[in-house]
Amino acid sequence: MYEPGLLQIVEACRGKNLFFSPDVTKGIQEAEIIFVSVNTPTKTYGVGAGKAADLKYIELCARQIAEVANGDKIIVEKSTLPVRTAESLKRVLHANSRGHHFEILSNPEFLAEGTAIRDLENPDRVLIGGDSTPTGCEAIAKLKSVYASWVPEDKIITTNLWSSELSKLVANAFLAQRVSSINSISALCEVTGADVDEVARAIGMDSRIGPKFLKASVGFGGSCFQKDILNLVYLCEHFNLPEVATYWEQVVQINNWQKRRFVHRIIKTLFNTVAGKRIAVFGFAFKKDTNDVRESPAIDICKSLIEEHAEVIVHDPRVKAEVIINKISEALGTNTIKIENRLTVTSNPYQASIDAHALVIATEWDEYSHLDYVKIYQKMQKPAFVFDGRSIVPNKQLVSLGFEVYKLGQPIGNRI
Ligand code: UDX
Repeated sequence: MYEPGLLQIVEACRGKNLFFSPDVTKGIQEAEIIFVSVNTPTKTYGVGAGKAADLKYIELCARQIAEVANGDKIIVEKSTLPVRTAESLKRVLHANSRGHHFEILSNPEFLAEGTAIRDLENPDRVLIGGDSTPTGCEAIAKLKSVYASWVPEDKIITTNLWSSELSKLVANAFLAQRVSSINSISALCEVTGADVDEVARAIGMDSRIGPKFLKASVGFGGSCFQKDILNLVYLCEHFNLPEVATYWEQVVQINNWQKRRFVHRIIKTLFNTVAGKRIAVFGFAFKKDTNDVRESPAIDICKSLIEEHAEVIVHDPRVKAEVIINKISEALGTNTIKIENRLTVTSNPYQASIDAHALVIATEWDEYSHLDYVKIYQKMQKPAFVFDGRSIVPNKQLVSLGFEVYKLGQPIGNRI
């Protein structure tokens, strides 16, 4: 796992006030506050498959806490959960309480990968949801005091349990919606002559809109956005709000469409066929500064190119070759051996570009803006194409070197 700054913190704190142990029972018994941080993946089976969150790990935690607790506990939901999960937790805990009191709080995590430590040290806000009963208020105050040692009081907000649970889903839905909104506009820019980066800058300076999360891309990825929106959609359907469900589902639809659109552009530009052509894909992580590949748009791009019989060479500075090969094989529904002659992973971007017909930028790693493109151009097939799915390469410079550059959200045919 690669997360800038994490290793340093673990090294500084391990054995002092940070301990790792497989002894869960001891951990539960010694703790006053227990953060439940298990994962809540999208259900792959039964009712709600493909949309609802799978809560089996959460429930197992609750049962284990109830079984071994030797006193009162504050239990904090840290995992992202659908609204009203706390109610189920409460019921499981209270039915098995053996005389102990369990107070449930919701304290969703808003950090983003790649900037996790910075986000933790300096959060926009900390959200704590709890009951307004005397024990609930006491538990909220206790958790608040933990954060108050480094977060200013005015940034710690408290709400009821349901508002807190829902806010996490809604925050991710709104963020993803911004990406889908600007991505939808990127398509319009390409056919009208507008430049999406200029549009983003112009609208982002409106303080009501703000400049963040307006970077057009080949699509959002990561473990949260799609999962949380689908979860929200499921909730809306469950509560018989089909219009609201459809509205949010469209954010995911646009994201899928953007990924498809990008691959179609590659194929169309490469004279309507990529069969037998070498295509170098730069970046496989779902964003820079992480080695996480969950829901990475690069997976879909590589899959589609391989299905079109291209020869794909992937480079990523942090993701291991094994992970890349397994992810693509999984997406193709085939075993790794079958795609061996279609897929290569290299640790050297220059190697990747030798004899390539096209470069595809899938992740915005800083190093891709600073490569020696003269050297790359010399070794590539001509015409040499660049498809910049993250809008990070120095376009003008590349065009002056002889590259044909396609940048998302730039007018097509405009040679910059
Ligand atoms: C997200 C939320 O930001 C965070 O608050 C929550 O706790 C977990 O989910 P994360 O998935 O780690 O965090 O990354 P984020 O920075 O939000 O990016 C998500 C995806 O959107 C990435 O694929 C990124 O490349 C893409 N993105 C983001 C864009 O395409 N354009 C943008 O302007 C911003």
